[in-house]
Amino acid sequence: MTIESVVWDEWYPVAIAEDVTPCKVYKTRLLGHSIEYACDADGRVTAWHGNAERTPCKALTRYHTHWVSLGDPPERFFALPEFDEPDRRTLGGGSMTVHVSGLRAIENFLDMAHFPYVHDGFLGAEPYTDVLPYDVSIEPPGEIFARNCRFFQPRGASTSNDGGYDTDYIYRVTRPYVALLYKSSPHHPGRMDVIGLFVQPLTEEWCRAHTLLLYLDETTPDSGLRLFQQTIFGQDLMLLSNEIPKKLPLDSRFEIPVRADAMSMAYRRWLDQRGVRYGTYRELEAQAMPAPAGQTLTRAVA
Ligand SMILES: [Fe+2]
Repeated sequence: MTIESVVWDEWYPVAIAEDVTPCKVYKTRLLGHSIEYACDADGRVTAWHGNAERTPCKALTRYHTHWVSLGDPPERFFALPEFDEPDRRTLGGGSMTVHVSGLRAIENFLDMAHFPYVHDGFLGAEPYTDVLPYDVSIEPPGEIFARNCRFFQPRGASTSNDGGYDTDYIYRVTRPYVALLYKSSPHHPGRMDVIGLFVQPLTEEWCRAHTLLLYLDETTPDSGLRLFQQTIFGQDLMLLSNEIPKKLPLDSRFEIPVRADAMSMAYRRWLDQRGVRYGTYRELEAQAMPAPAGQTLTRAVA
């Protein structure tokens, strides 16, 4: 298949820097292609196609993450000024392979409505199930923001043990497979922890989700921060693995827009307007493959 330029000519994460052993060759997939990568003793990453010729791919390291492109990616990377703040902890939160389109993984990351059901006791709890109104905007250089998000969380961070509090969120989508979450830091009023979800599309229906943590936390050991993040993502795994279809529908017939889904709708519209097709499910394909009787094509949790 021919992959559209907006997807092909893009940088994709293959690993968080600390998870790569120098001088060891790693094999993975990107957009259905076999690739290999390695870091030298100085941490410099190189990548190549997994063919006999070992055709080189473009590779670089940004934000503690190794990125590879099969095409002609933009010179300019998305901005992440918090990465340069000296008092932040920077570490990987884990990389997980999931049987779902990477676009589905991003959309799930942007969704607050599932917190009380999927992350009960952590990011939400019944009866606090309402998603309060929030503001969605497209801001230069064409990124999606959801601002003024607020949700009651019993244990929104690894250091929270005081019975819960209202957590302020900002969501940001910089590229089709890159999303960032800013959430109020329990011990630093006015500042926010940052979680980056960088998704590697292995194929249209499989992805590897890499998580980067930029935390304002002086006390929790790395293992504690990672364990908390992996616990949360582990809870999402069941939801994501059961999504039908595996690809992200860009046809509004399949979803019922409600207020809580404002960010999801903005993300789908934004993908559609950019011409993203890889990893999406369209009406023509739906007509060719009707849903089995009695099976509805909606979010698993709505
Ligand atoms: Fe979740």
